[in-house]
Amino acid sequence: MTLVPGLKQATQYQHDLVYTCPECGAVVEPLLVEFPPNLGGPRYVQRRCQCELQKNIDAVERAKNFERMRRYERYFSYSTLGNRFASKTFINFLATPQTSVALRESKRFTQTAMNATTEEERADGVLLIGPVGTGKSHLAAAVFNSLKESKSCIFVNVPELLARIMASYSSKSTESEEEIINAVKQCDVLILDDLGAERHKGDDDWATEKLFTIVDFRYRNMRPIFSTTNCTPDSLEDKIGQRIMSRLREICDLIPCLGDDYRNRHASERRA
Ligand SMILES: Nc1ncnc2c1ncn2[C@@H]1O[C@H](COP(=O)(O)OP(=O)(O)OP(=O)(O)O)[C@@H](O)[C@H]1O
Ligand SMILES: [Mg+2]
Ligand SMILES: [Zn+2]
Repeated sequence: MTLVPGLKQATQYQHDLVYTCPECGAVVEPLLVEFPPNLGGPRYVQRRCQCELQKNIDAVERAKNFERMRRYERYFSYSTLGNRFASKTFINFLATPQTSVALRESKRFTQTAMNATTEEERADGVLLIGPVGTGKSHLAAAVFNSLKESKSCIFVNVPELLARIMASYSSKSTESEEEIINAVKQCDVLILDDLGAERHKGDDDWATEKLFTIVDFRYRNMRPIFSTTNCTPDSLEDKIGQRIMSRLREICDLIPCLGDDYRNRHASERRA
């Protein structure tokens, strides 16, 4: 009879069952198990090394974490990226002199995030700054679309994120505030689209506090944020407050994404 797959049958002889761990070399003495007489009486049973058991536990933990992240991502990303942005990539972004740095930095961010295995290797974040229609959300979606297969990555529009947290307070809600906030805190890469488009009512209002919780957690735990905004750095700071802005400045490179409103071009092509 074996209790653990891969181990020898139990016997009456202790010396047969001393186990040498192939991983760390430890010598593990067998365990005497008091089987009742009708099951053959007391016998020695071979035991695995603690280090192997721990490895199994770690593997199970990792698998569980991965599953949890996948679940969070699924329910976020697809719902907020939207059909318009599902097909946006770096290839179908047409660089102009005013957006070439934004394109380059978005690609750099993606590459670093993709290759990072440790916290130290994780990318500096990016905050794309520019007026309407210059391709900021397009680049943010391209980052997401490049990373979504290999990393847990969440793309979320900031006003929608806050509205979603607010809606979770309703007794009819199927998700909790904790679930939402944990997902955006913990994911490998968080993309916050349209930062500053949400409503704040002063420095310590509800929206500021929620954003602070998220940004501060990621700041402390070295998890990158890729973000876009219509505001200038000063007006963004007026909205989200000094405490969030100061952390963003430290973990993100502020990159201009300028030019004409690309949506006008679409409109004139349609009219032509
Ligand atoms: N350089 C570009 N090449 C190809 N398509 C572009 C480019 N810039 C913008 N677009 C397209 O124009 C539309 C508007 O761009 P996008 O939504 O990314 O702008 P934005 O900077 O996020 O604007 P807003 O500040 O209003 O959110 C999108 O459909 C986007 O794919
Ligand atoms: Mg946008
Ligand atoms: Zn061992």
